[in-house]
Amino acid sequence: MKNSYAIYYYSGTGNTKLIAEMLAESFMSNDIEINLVDIEDVLVGRAELEVAYNVIGIGHPVISFRAPKVVRKFIKLMPASAGKKIFLFKTAGDPSKINNAASIQLIEHLTEKGYHVFYDSLIAMPSNFFISYRPSLIKQLLNRAEQRVAEIAQDIINMKSKQLVVKPWLKALTQKIHFYEEKYGAPTFGKGFQISEACNLCGLCVEKCPAQNITVESGQLDFEDRCEMCMRCLYNCPQRAISNRYKFVVLKDGYSINEIKRIRHDDQISGDYVTSKTRGYFKHFGKYLGID
Ligand SMILES: Cc1cc2nc3c(=O)[nH]c(=O)nc-3n(C[C@H](O)[C@H](O)[C@H](O)COP(=O)(O)O)c2cc1C
Ligand code: SF4
Ligand code: SF4
Repeated sequence: MKNSYAIYYYSGTGNTKLIAEMLAESFMSNDIEINLVDIEDVLVGRAELEVAYNVIGIGHPVISFRAPKVVRKFIKLMPASAGKKIFLFKTAGDPSKINNAASIQLIEHLTEKGYHVFYDSLIAMPSNFFISYRPSLIKQLLNRAEQRVAEIAQDIINMKSKQLVVKPWLKALTQKIHFYEEKYGAPTFGKGFQISEACNLCGLCVEKCPAQNITVESGQLDFEDRCEMCMRCLYNCPQRAISNRYKFVVLKDGYSINEIKRIRHDDQISGDYVTSKTRGYFKHFGKYLGID
C-alpha cells in the first residue's frame, strides 16, 4: 500500500501555501499520496481534521518569532495520539537563528498530546512586512526554497530527525517580544485600519480574514480587536481601499503571491542579489543561500 501523508498549512499571504504545494509535489513525485489541507478550512468546518496518515506535516509563517494563533487553535483541536509522526515547516522573511524557536509552543502542545515531532525546519521567503525585497533577492530566495523543499522532502521520506538549535536566551527574548506583539502590537495595529471611498463593500476582506475581525455594520466596514496582523486584507483588496495608520510595517506597493510566482519563473531576473561581497543587513543571508 502507498504511503500517505497529510500537510496542514496556514498562510496569511501565500508564501507558506506555496511551500506546502511545492512539498506536496515533491512527495507525490516520490509516489506518496498527499492530502493538502488549509488549516482555515478545518477551523470553519470546510475540511476534516483527519490524522490517519503515515506522517503529518504542519506549516506556518513566523509572526513575531512564533506561530500565529490560528495554528495554535488548530493544534488544540487535534486528537490525542500514540506517537504519530509530525514534521514542521515554517516560512520567514529572515533565515537567521532568531526564528528557530518559532514552533516551540506547537512542539510542546503536540508532544503533550502524544505526537512525535521528529523534524523542524525553516525556509526563508520574501518578507511580507516592513521591508520590501528586490526581485533579484526574491528570485534568489525562491531558488534556494526549491532546493530546501527537495532536501526536506527527502529527509521526511527517510524519516531523518532534525530539531532546530534554540539558544535558551534567544527563546526567552523572542517569547517576550511575541507576548508584547500579541497583547499590544496587533490590537494597536488593528485599531489603525482606514478604509477609503474606493471600497465597494464587495465583502472579500470580511470573508477572508482568518481572525473574523472584519464585519459590516450599517453599510460600513468595522474592524474589531482580534487582528492577527496577517496583512491579507491590506494586500488583497481589489480596490486597494484598505490602509493602516502604522504605515511603516505595511509594504508600500503591497505583496502579491502571484507576483512572487511570476518572479520565480522569470528568466530575465538574475537571482544573485546576495554575493560574497554583500555588506549590511543582507550579509547574514549568505550562509543560508550557500554563499561563502
Ligand atoms: C506581523 C508580521 C510579523 C512577522 N514576523 C516575522 C519574524 O518574526 N521573523 C521573520 O523572519 N519574518 C517575519 N515576518 C515575515 C513572514 O514570516 C514571511 O514573509 C512569511 O513567509 C509570510 O508567510 P505567509 O505569506 O504564508 O503568511 C512577519 C510578517 C508579519 C506580517
Ligand atoms: S475587499 Fe476592499 S472593496 Fe471589498 S469590502 Fe474589503 S475594503 Fe471594501
Ligand atoms: S484584519 Fe486584516 S490583517 Fe488583521 S487578521 Fe484580518 S485580514 Fe489579517
